[in-house]
Amino acid sequence: MQFVNRFWAVFALFTAQLVGTLAQGITPNGWENTQLSREIDLQYTFTVDTFELTIKNIADKPLKQYYITIPYELMGQLSTLTASLTKKEDAFLNCYLFNGTSTLEDGTVLGYGVIELPSPVQPGREIEITAKVFYNVAGKPYPAKMNLGEVQQLYFTSNRLPMSPYLTVESTLVVNTRSKVQEDNKPEDESLQGVFNEDTKVMEFGPWSNTKPNTVSELNLIYKHVTALKEIVNLQRDVWVSNWASTIQFEEYYEMTNKGAALNGGFDRLAYMKQSQMMQLGMIPWIQVLEMGLPVGASEHFCTDKVGMVSTTEVIEDSFFVRPRYPVFGGWFYNFTIGWTNQLSQFARNYPNDDETFLLAVPVLNGPADTVYDHAFVNVYLPEGAEIMEADSPVSYKYMYVNNEQSYFDMNEGHVKLTFEFDNLFTNIGKADLLIKYKYSKTALYKKPLSIAVYFFTALMGFFIIKSLNFSVNK
Ligand SMILES: *[C@@H]1O[C@H](CO)[C@@H](O)[C@H](O)[C@H]1NC(C)=O
Ligand SMILES: *[C@@H]1O[C@H](CO)[C@@H](O)[C@H](O)[C@H]1NC(C)=O
Repeated sequence: MQFVNRFWAVFALFTAQLVGTLAQGITPNGWENTQLSREIDLQYTFTVDTFELTIKNIADKPLKQYYITIPYELMGQLSTLTASLTKKEDAFLNCYLFNGTSTLEDGTVLGYGVIELPSPVQPGREIEITAKVFYNVAGKPYPAKMNLGEVQQLYFTSNRLPMSPYLTVESTLVVNTRSKVQEDNKPEDESLQGVFNEDTKVMEFGPWSNTKPNTVSELNLIYKHVTALKEIVNLQRDVWVSNWASTIQFEEYYEMTNKGAALNGGFDRLAYMKQSQMMQLGMIPWIQVLEMGLPVGASEHFCTDKVGMVSTTEVIEDSFFVRPRYPVFGGWFYNFTIGWTNQLSQFARNYPNDDETFLLAVPVLNGPADTVYDHAFVNVYLPEGAEIMEADSPVSYKYMYVNNEQSYFDMNEGHVKLTFEFDNLFTNIGKADLLIKYKYSKTALYKKPLSIAVYFFTALMGFFIIKSLNFSVNK
């Protein structure tokens, strides 16, 4: 899975603070999609919707913004939007959500993502861009309940013909799942139907010509998905930075569920045992083992849940395998905590010629593969006395704030706690780094052990004083 590499995520800034200037309710125009090739990737728990576009300015003035339609129902599930120039893959474009919607005659409500081109495109000129829209949802279980041993199917709904505010001259659509795709409510017009390509295992549609702006045409697909749909409803990820010990400690609390099909009529141990062969192949719609991809060189791993220490864990190279106490079937929950430690030098560097200013780069997530996250709090605890100069996230966040938190051994104002709050994340986006520039002076570094020493000293002194008082009372 290459589509979200480190740099992509870093440059594809998608901040909710940037909003469009278009008056509400007005449909964008001025472009023509000369060619639109869309690919819907449904292999994972999330959806990747890719648009390869050749667009032409048909207005009489230069244009700098291109609008991409995002169905209103999916707005709440939108994870991120990225765009780049097709011929220069590392030329990332600023993208943001348009603040407002437009309503079509049939009542369909549309939202938009806005792509900012690097420079205004002159009338009559074309440009090629690639846009990717990520949603933290894919198909829904269909049927919603099934028996053990049955194959899980998912139901996915989208639009078939291009849903663009602009005229689309030529277009194609490809749907990629890991299995055969079947259409539900297939249209009678054969030119609209998809054909499953046995070689490439994708469903192919089109080519279609001259699709009018804002064409509504439903696409309903049913496909097999043999593995669980891992969903972290809430994640609390705590990252403790210690310049004193030169370590960085991670502790993560997961509230995990499987949003795949629920069991018909409860858990049947015998039927479950019969699945062992499928289990070995990993082709099971429940969560059996979690593989956490940890940073290189992690140590001091642990896993706990409500019952206590979880002993069914194993460390193999950079992976931490955790076997929940029970298989997590559709709709079931498993909440647990994991933790580990790394060397700080892997994540923080001091600035050249300035050994009091540090740049910390910590990945947004370290969780299991192919997983979606509804809400995530990432708390970075800097040492007491540290001063945050700048902080940013390559992934759009809901809030970012700084607090102080008192912990064991903190004497004065406590650790500096920087919190990022995220919605709708998914595994691959987690590879992106949060960047934090902070100042931590030598005096702050020495102040800490010094104040601990003073603390012990005064406590000890107090103890002696009480003792001696007692002695004097006893005497
Ligand atoms: C978005 O639009 C609403 C309603 O017009 C307005 O109240 C709000 O301030 C806008 N948000 C931003 C971030 O501009
Ligand atoms: C696990 O998390 C879910 C989701 O927040 C919650 O509803 C449930 O009560 C939690 N279970 C336990 C045992 O803490």
